[in-house]
Amino acid sequence: MAPNAPLAPGPTTGTPTTRTRVAVAGATGFAGQELVRLLARHPSVALTDAMSSGAASGPRPLPALRGIWDGTVVPLDVDRLAENAAIVFLALPEAAAADVGAALLQRDTRVVDLSGAFRLRDDAGRQRWYPATGALPSGVVYGLPERHADAIRAARLVSCPGCYPTAALLALAPLAEAGLLEGGVVIDAKSGISGAGKAPTDRTHFCANHGSVAAYGVFAHRHTAEIEQELGATVTFVPHLVPLDRGLLETIYGSLRPGTTDADVSEALQRAYAAAPLVRLTGSDLPEIKHVAYTNFCDIGWRVDEATGRVVIVSAIDNLLKGAAGQAVQNMNILLGLDERTGLL
Ligand SMILES: NC(=O)c1ccc[n+]([C@@H]2O[C@H](COP(=O)([O-])OP(=O)(O)OC[C@H]3O[C@@H](n4cnc5c(N)ncnc54)[C@H](OP(=O)(O)O)[C@@H]3O)[C@@H](O)[C@H]2O)c1
Repeated sequence: MAPNAPLAPGPTTGTPTTRTRVAVAGATGFAGQELVRLLARHPSVALTDAMSSGAASGPRPLPALRGIWDGTVVPLDVDRLAENAAIVFLALPEAAAADVGAALLQRDTRVVDLSGAFRLRDDAGRQRWYPATGALPSGVVYGLPERHADAIRAARLVSCPGCYPTAALLALAPLAEAGLLEGGVVIDAKSGISGAGKAPTDRTHFCANHGSVAAYGVFAHRHTAEIEQELGATVTFVPHLVPLDRGLLETIYGSLRPGTTDADVSEALQRAYAAAPLVRLTGSDLPEIKHVAYTNFCDIGWRVDEATGRVVIVSAIDNLLKGAAGQAVQNMNILLGLDERTGLL
């Protein structure tokens, strides 16, 4: 298949022939299970394969999805992915995604990757934060759908943004683009524990997290590099773990160019998202995690203090949906020329 050829819907077993064949690697993880749930009910695709890690993991069902998807997860098999599916979703740890993604591209299979393996364009940054990724293959597109839909349509590999960068960039990029920000911004972020994946660590174990809030990764979180790449500006990003299973909220503090009004901020955001059905601007009613949990919406609210020239923006998403699986499906919808909400509302 030519790199940018439109995707032809492929044949499937027991499903209408107009459905595109898709598969998920990493289907037993937090994000992967969300992908299986969404894709199993998506009207335009047929899920051919759902895979776990290597041979040692053995075939198994996904009990949480009983009645939604009753298939069997099988161990990772890259040849089978390439043979059976036109689009493969990778919900794998970065190093595995770097290998599998490159192998699938060599087989001319389109890829939607949820990991960070292909997000950073700068070689030095990639070597520092994602050392398993070598040179970036051609046809990789950073897939923030509200901002890069045209490029996503022609992508061979859509590299989905991280969960924290999704919330930060959707809030900040329109203001940066309109030239309204002055100086650096501070992003104070809080995430539920599923953001760290399914294997508990000393930090994410229930007993460590329950009843507590902790900052981590200060000046040392790889999502800083991703936000700065896309924003073209330095940010101070401080993530916190909060005792929730899912959901992410960022309170962002910035200084505005002198003379900027509340109306200027509103107008920049409204212009950016006038045709973006999955971003909800809430104005001075500030977003909450409960309003976006289990949805693919990003809610953005803001307050401006015109007297001091300061802005506070609050941005909230479900890390497993708009921050991972839902955004990946939104990107697939764009690849396939579908309404980007298909299968997501
Ligand atoms: N969690 C989030 O909120 C979130 C948000 C945005 C992006 N992401 C990214 O999405 C990816 C998946 O995240 P997650 O939280 O779903 O992770 P997770 O819960 O730890 O799941 C990892 C999945 O990858 C499989 N796997 C592990 N090592 C593998 C290997 N060497 N080869 C093949 N498969 C392997 C696991 O299979 P087994 O069950 O067999 O171990 C499991 O299915 C990560 O790159 C993460 O950074 C996650």
